[in-house]
Parts: sequence; structure tokens; C-alpha cells
Amino acid sequence: MSSIVTLSEFIMERQADFPYASGDLSRLLADIGIASKIVNHKVNKAGLQDILGAMESTNVQGETQMKLDVFADNALLNAVRWGGQVCGAASEENEKYFTFESEICKKSKYVILFDPLDGSSNIDVNVSIGTIFSVFRRKSSVGDLANVNDFLQKGSEQVAAGYVIYGSSTMLVYTTGHGVNGFTLEPSIGEFCLSHENMRIPEDGTIYSINEGNLMSCSPGVQAYVNWCKQTDKKTQRPYSARYIGSLVADFHRNLIKGGIYMYPGTVKSQEGKLRLQYESNPLAFIVEQAGGKASDGKGRIMDIQPSSLHQRAPLFIGSKNMVELVERLIAEENN
Ligand code: AHG
Ligand code: MN
Ligand code: MN
Repeated sequence: MSSIVTLSEFIMERQADFPYASGDLSRLLADIGIASKIVNHKVNKAGLQDILGAMESTNVQGETQMKLDVFADNALLNAVRWGGQVCGAASEENEKYFTFESEICKKSKYVILFDPLDGSSNIDVNVSIGTIFSVFRRKSSVGDLANVNDFLQKGSEQVAAGYVIYGSSTMLVYTTGHGVNGFTLEPSIGEFCLSHENMRIPEDGTIYSINEGNLMSCSPGVQAYVNWCKQTDKKTQRPYSARYIGSLVADFHRNLIKGGIYMYPGTVKSQEGKLRLQYESNPLAFIVEQAGGKASDGKGRIMDIQPSSLHQRAPLFIGSKNMVELVERLIAEENN
């Protein structure tokens, strides 16, 4: 029988690879693992929760039932606040970042940014959703309160990033810049267990993922690429397959394993597309690069973008290396 390696065991084992590291990052990853189990538990009961929610909305306290994305937001915020390994956190759900004022948090070295629940529109229809997180070393001095510059760092400065997918099984995938590893939640013991060691994305793929309803308002380069994907060519195994779940995490995860490209380009209405650089694109860009793939905004590397505001958006082309390079090339050609 092969032995099972749990997330905590794996983190501890890897911790030994960095003799000078203090273990704070390891503890932070463990805290995120715990928070995601809490979210997972709730996600699994989403339909039932809606029934309970309707009843609770008439309770004496007059409390309104928390939506799942607010629940996930609170679960993550509480886990990292009380875990004490970060001095601040920023979330897609909140206008402003949070600074944690306890002495232990002020002394910590990191900040975290997250999309607590990705794919919100899929919650009510029992389709895969996720959580995405991104960790940076703080810019401000240890002992001070976190400030905005801690959160406005380029993706290339990330020290860890990951996601949890609440799918047909629940998985946590993360990187600390030493490759990508995936863990599947084993419900009978309630532990994430190593299931996908050293994940690599194929250099080429045959899947393209885009909300094609928007295609007419995308740039000619993007249109040219999508048309290219649909043409017949034996050598490149075209036409490719179109796959679009509408949950970035789920679309990304499938393409990471099978090879493919996910695109959320700018449109006439929204030049910068829809996805948020710091909560969605940067963390997945870190993972895809660590797995041998690429992430671009159509012109250059996602992780080289200097953010100027917390909820900034950017176009995203992410996945298999050769696919991202081709769409970049077609965009450049159309622009010239
Ligand atoms: P969120 O639920 O965190 O707001 O993110 C939704 C995002 C992403 O998960 C998904 O790929 C994309 O929105 C889908 O957008 P469209 O419905 O415009 O295709
Ligand atoms: Mn999202
Ligand atoms: Mn979200």
C-alpha cells in the first residue's frame, strides 16, 4: 500500500528544504488549508443552506442569511487574522484592505490577497467554484501596521499562491516558487492528501476557453486566434475543443492538467477585461509559470504589471506556453 502524505506533512517536509525560513509561511498555508475546509463544508451544503436561509431571514434577531461568498470571505479573513502569520489582507469582496493590529500580526512578514469565492454565478447551479490566494512579503517594516504598498506589488514578488477548487472532488493546489503540487481532500479523514505531485502543464493543448458571446467586441487579434482554433488542421489537432465553465479556477485547473488556454480579453465596453489582477490573475500566473506555462495580458507578462490600485483589472491569456505565445503574436500582428 502506498503511503498517504497529508498537506501538513508535505508542508513540514518542504519546510526542511529552507533551513533559514522561520516556518511562518508554512503555518500560513496550513491556516488557508483549514479555512478552505470550512468553506468546502458550507459549499457542499449550498442547496440546503438556501432553504435554511429563507427561514432564518425571518428570525427574531432580524439577521440576514450570509451569502456563500461573504461566508467564504469571513472564513478566510478569520483564519489569517487569528493565525497571526500576516499583517494584513485584501479581498475582492472588500473595498479597502484590512490591517491586523495585534502584536503578533504586526510582527509578521507577510500580507495575503484573495478571491474568497471565484465563480459566484455558479454557486446556485451546483457547478465547480473556487478560492484563490496570493501571498507577498510585506514592504512596510516589521512591527508597523501594513500599508497600501504592501498590497500593490508586482506578481513577480509573490512568495506563494494557490487555489482551492470545490469540484467533483475538492483540491488545493499551490506553489511557493518550487514547482506546483496538488492535494485532494479525502473526506473520510478530512485531510488534503498529496495527489498531484510536481504538476506540469503541456506546452501545447487542444482546449480554448473564452466567453465567446463577447467575441465580436474583442480585438481583431483575439478574434483571429479564436478563428484559428476552429480551423481544421490535422498536424495541430484542430479544430480545438471549446470549454468554458465560467469559474476561472475550474477552467484553469482543467487546462493546467490537460493543456489549453483560458482567455478573458478586453472588450469594447471594458478595455481591461473583467478579471482582477491581484486576486485572480497574479496567483494563477505564478502557478502556471511554475508549471511551465505562461500568463499574459496580450502584450506582456502578467506578473510584470505594476498595480496602481487594489481592484485593478487586466486582460488575461493563461495556459499552455505555445498557445499563449501564438495569441500574443496574433494580437501584435493585428496591432501593427
Ligand atoms: P467572481 O465570481 O470571483 O466574481 O469571478 C467570476 C469570474 C471568473 O471566475 C469567470 O471565469 C468569469 O468571471 C466569468 O465571466 P463571464 O460570465 O463574463 O464569462
Ligand atoms: Mn473570481
Ligand atoms: Mn469572487
